[in-house]
Order: sequence, then structure tokens, then C-alpha cells
Amino acid sequence: MQKTVVSQEQIAHQYEYMQFIARMNAQKAEVCGHKLRAFTQTFGCQQNEADTQRIAGMLDEMGYEKAESAQQADVIVINTCAVREHAESRALGNVGALSHLKKARPDVTICLCGCMVQQEHMPEKIKKSYPQVDIVFGTHALWRFPELLYRRLTGDKRVFDTSGDAAGYIAEGLPILRDGGTKAWLSIMYGCNNFCTYCIVPYVRGRERSRDPQQIVHELEQLVAEGYKDITLLGQNVNSYGKDLDTPIDFSDLLVRLNAVPGDFLLRFMTSHPKDASHKLFDTMAACDKVAKQLHLPFQSGSDTILKRMNRGYTATHYRELIAYARGKMPDLTLSSDIIVGFPGETEQDFEQTRALVDEIGFDMLYTFLYSKRSGTPAASMPDDTPHEVKQERFERLLRTQDERVQARQDAYAGKCLRVLVDGTSKGTEYPLTARTEGGLLVCCAGDGLKIGEFAQVRIEKTSLRCLFGRSV
Ligand code: SAH
Ligand code: SF4
Ligand code: F3S
Repeated sequence: MQKTVVSQEQIAHQYEYMQFIARMNAQKAEVCGHKLRAFTQTFGCQQNEADTQRIAGMLDEMGYEKAESAQQADVIVINTCAVREHAESRALGNVGALSHLKKARPDVTICLCGCMVQQEHMPEKIKKSYPQVDIVFGTHALWRFPELLYRRLTGDKRVFDTSGDAAGYIAEGLPILRDGGTKAWLSIMYGCNNFCTYCIVPYVRGRERSRDPQQIVHELEQLVAEGYKDITLLGQNVNSYGKDLDTPIDFSDLLVRLNAVPGDFLLRFMTSHPKDASHKLFDTMAACDKVAKQLHLPFQSGSDTILKRMNRGYTATHYRELIAYARGKMPDLTLSSDIIVGFPGETEQDFEQTRALVDEIGFDMLYTFLYSKRSGTPAASMPDDTPHEVKQERFERLLRTQDERVQARQDAYAGKCLRVLVDGTSKGTEYPLTARTEGGLLVCCAGDGLKIGEFAQVRIEKTSLRCLFGRSV
């Protein structure tokens, strides 16, 4: 299976559609006295946020300004997630609630896109149960959004496009509208090949495909020129970057190239997979001054039996070794992970192994999820006889362990001086600004000389579970 690089000719066509809609919108704006407005809403992960920024870029190009609510908007785009049932029901709930708006204003265009709608059974369900939705497009059709919107605005009743080859697409040259501020997402690859047995992502995002390194370097240079200082490289498994490219390059080589871009900025990346994270990667992180000493390395379970059934491709021992090596190279490493509690067949002993690993390693941050059955994945047909209450109790037990450990890690920062990037304002009055440490930890800060968008040194005065509190020095 070969990915498709969308030709520049096809991209040019999309620009033609955008210009056409922009002209149409300019005329409409004259009649109604203000620019047309678009509202976007995103569920799911950073990849999806990055995708929404591409949709926002196209909407901007088509002459829409940002609406603060769906009520004000002429176009509504809901970018959905399918990773857990909860994400789906929230998105569908929101779409359901829009039926009143559609009745009151039939000319509003409602678009549903992203991972949830890319699932095989979804287009039918939306056709039948959500008549208020005008346009449905999957992850593979994202770059064709202007064409789909054009078709709807020029007479097509409802437009559905969840087609596309699972090998996937790379579309360069479309506009991106970021939020401004200090942080930016930078996608380096799309899709996933790992097929962890619980996970829907490979089915809805297609196969792994890497962007050309030249394009990534160029985008980073632009971001730095625009003043972004905290840049996160995105991919479902960044450690397999480059495997599908003709250029011999891996993720570590890419980091070295990006680290060489001039300017004062920090590079982060997510997500890493323990089966592909290498010593070379940790050596490279340690050697690159602009690469944050931060690692998000999901381990999912501390039980080898469960890891095997999850098709994760590593053991708990391998995970321990990786962390030991990484911490050896980077003593100040900030470490986070994802865990699934209640995978089919998880016993009390399996769970205790997970909890023990959390206790042993001491993460700075953990994202813990209750297993959610995804239809079409292998785990969906595995026997699962653990009662929900038992899973829930394990989940809470894990949270307690995690909170104790996280608090201990936080407390260890008290009195220390840290370099932070000030990035916003906080609700508190005593520490009115927010910042991030190089490791990505939240710091509420106070003191003289702090400026949003700039790096500063702060001394940590107190700590809580979720936040450090510091004063400029
Ligand atoms: N590519 C990343 C994760 C993407 S999904 C990786 O492999 O680490 C983010 C997290 O959601 C996963 O790490 C996993 O912990 C969780 N997750 C995925 N599928 C899930 C499911 N069916 N139920 C519960 N949690 C799930
Ligand atoms: Fe899902 Fe596994 Fe791929 Fe992550 S690596 S996106 S958990 S299949
Ligand atoms: Fe969700 Fe799709 Fe991300 S399923 S977690 S939005 S890749």
C-alpha cells in the first residue's frame, strides 16, 4: 500500500473553490452588513486540534471570521474523536442539540468530520438519525473540505465523503490558522500501523505516513519567524517517523535537523511508543539544546499478559529499562504516560502490576482511562467478565497511587529555580500568570519582569497536585 501525495494541481483546485466561496461570501456580507462567521469545535487529541487548525485556515481563506458560538455561525464544523465511547456520545449529543438551530436557521451549514465519522457504520447512522447535518467528511477527505462546502453551497442537498484509501494522504500547501500565542502544533506524520487491539485509531486514520523533512523544517522556520516558542511535533508514533520515506532519515535525525533551526524556542513531541523508542532517541534528546527534556511514553499496562493481548510489542521490563536509560541521560526528565484500566480479562494481579509500575517509576503526569470497547477492534470480541464496579474501583485505586506520587514529584520542586516560558494569565490573583517548565509542567507565577511569550527564571514557592507556584528571580 502506497500513500498518496496530493498533487499541487489538486491543491490548486481547492484554492479555486476557496476563492469562489470567498467571493460569494463577500457579496453576502454586503447584504447582511458583517462578514460571515464559522464556528469550530474539536474533540480528541492534539492531532485533531491540528486538523481543526487546517480547517480554520481554509475557512479563513474563504472569508469566514471566527464565531464565538454555534448560534452566531453560518458554518459549524465539529471535528470528532472515536477513541472512547464518551468522546463519541459527547459529539453526537452536541450535534443533536443543533437540530433546533437548524430549524430556526435552515441556511446554517453543519459539518461533521474527523475520526468518528470515518468509521464504517457512521455515515448510515448520521444519514438516518441526524438530518440536520449537511456535510460529513472523514479524515482522508479533510483536504477536500473547500470542494465539499462548495458543493453544498451551490445546491447539493447533503454531501457525504468518507471515502479514501487507508494508505492515506499527504496534502501540503493548504492554509493553517493557529491560535497565536506561544504554542504551536506541527504534524510530522499521520496515521498508525500498530493496531493495538483496543484502539480504533489505525482504522480511522489510515497507515503511517511521514511528511517530507524539508517541509517540516520549512514549517518550523515559519513558526519561529511568527514568534511561536513552544512547538510540539505530532504523530501517533513519532518514533517510526521516516520509515516510509525514500530519504534515509529517522526521528532522531529529524530532531537534529530541527534543533539546528536558528531561534529561541523549545521542541516537544508526542506520542512515543515503547517498542520503537530507542537509545539513539534519548541520546539525541540529551544532546539537542532546544529539545525539551520531556517524554510522553504510554505503557498502558504493567502486566506482560495484558501487554501481549494489547499487541503492544514490549514487556514491562523493557519499559523499565527504557526509562532507566532515559533518566540516566537526562536526570531532569519530565515523564508522563497513558494507562488503560479494565482491559478485557484484566485480573486483580494484572492490575496490581500496573499500579506497582506507577508507584515504582514516579511519573510527573498520568492520563488514565477506563477501557472502552470499540467495535471493529480485536479486543471488542475478547471475553470481558470483570464487572464495571470492579474496574471503577481499580481506576480509583490507581488514581490515589498516582496522586501520591505526582504530589511527591511536585513537592520536590519546592525551592528550586526553573526556566519557564510565560504563556498566559491565570485566574488566581496571587500568581496572575501561567507558564510551562521545559518539561511542560504548569507553573502559576508572579513577580517583576515576567512577560507573556518570553522565557524567565522563577523560584518555586509552593506546589499543588496540578500546579507549581513560582516567583521571578
Ligand atoms: N498513539 C498513542 C495514543 C493515542 S490514543 C500511543 O500509542 O500512545 C491515546 C490514549 O487513549 C492511548 O494511549 C490509550 O491509553 C487510550 N485509549 C486508546 N484506545 C482506548 C480504548 N479503547 N479505551 C480506553 N482508552 C483507550
Ligand atoms: Fe492506537 Fe496503538 Fe496506534 Fe497508539 S500506537 S494510536 S494506541 S494503535
Ligand atoms: Fe480521537 Fe482520532 Fe485522536 S480517534 S484520539 S481524534 S486520532
